Amino acid sequence: MLVRFLSGPLLCGPLLACLSALVLLLSGGLPAWAEFSLPPLPYAAGALEPTIDARTMTIHHDRHHGSYVANLNAQIKAFPALADLSLDALQGQVSAYPEAVRNNGGGHWNHSQFWAVMAPAGRGGAPSRKLSAAINRDFGSLEAMQATFNQAAASRFGSGWAWLIRRPDGSLAITSTANQDNPLMDLPGLERGTPLLGLDVWEHAYYLNYQNRRPDYIKAWWSLLNWKEVDRRFAEAGGASA
Ligand SMILES: [Fe+2]
Repeated sequence: MLVRFLSGPLLCGPLLACLSALVLLLSGGLPAWAEFSLPPLPYAAGALEPTIDARTMTIHHDRHHGSYVANLNAQIKAFPALADLSLDALQGQVSAYPEAVRNNGGGHWNHSQFWAVMAPAGRGGAPSRKLSAAINRDFGSLEAMQATFNQAAASRFGSGWAWLIRRPDGSLAITSTANQDNPLMDLPGLERGTPLLGLDVWEHAYYLNYQNRRPDYIKAWWSLLNWKEVDRRFAEAGGASA
């Protein structure tokens, strides 16, 4: 493991990160703070009913998201440099690691944002004036943006995600990714940008209630959108300016 750790610049990152990880490795292990952790749901498991039932939420959060976190932490043993990366920073470096890091690191990031961009119906507010202006500028209207998003979510073959992103130039766009990829990842063929909201269209997100009716789940999901969190993400990314 040491040979692989020291010999691959793609695996190791900056020299300082390599040295600090090496010190940790030689000192007999990684400190507890280095591990990624499962964030609690920001509301009760049944708070999104009837759109998303409590059983789906519990299984989705505790088992699915929990597994991504556990599997990502298992990768730290093989790749100690991971312990020095924030979850955000990891997304932009997944191409340097094996697929298990990409899948589980993406799964952890994607689901963490997913819980945050939802709120009990009637509690998520509305888009801010600045976000509304950007949506109108780039899509024509909120309804047109939602229609484009819904099409991307419904047509994603197999498992994946639909996203509203802010491009580096400040414009907004709709995109979708397969499996647990996301627009922050340094992968070929992805439109990169800052995700403002992402919808999980894996069957595990909706199958108990909706079975094969993914379009019904997508349409109903908008009633749960936490626009306050989407606004926060938009402002943090720089708003509508380049
Ligand atoms: Fe999921």
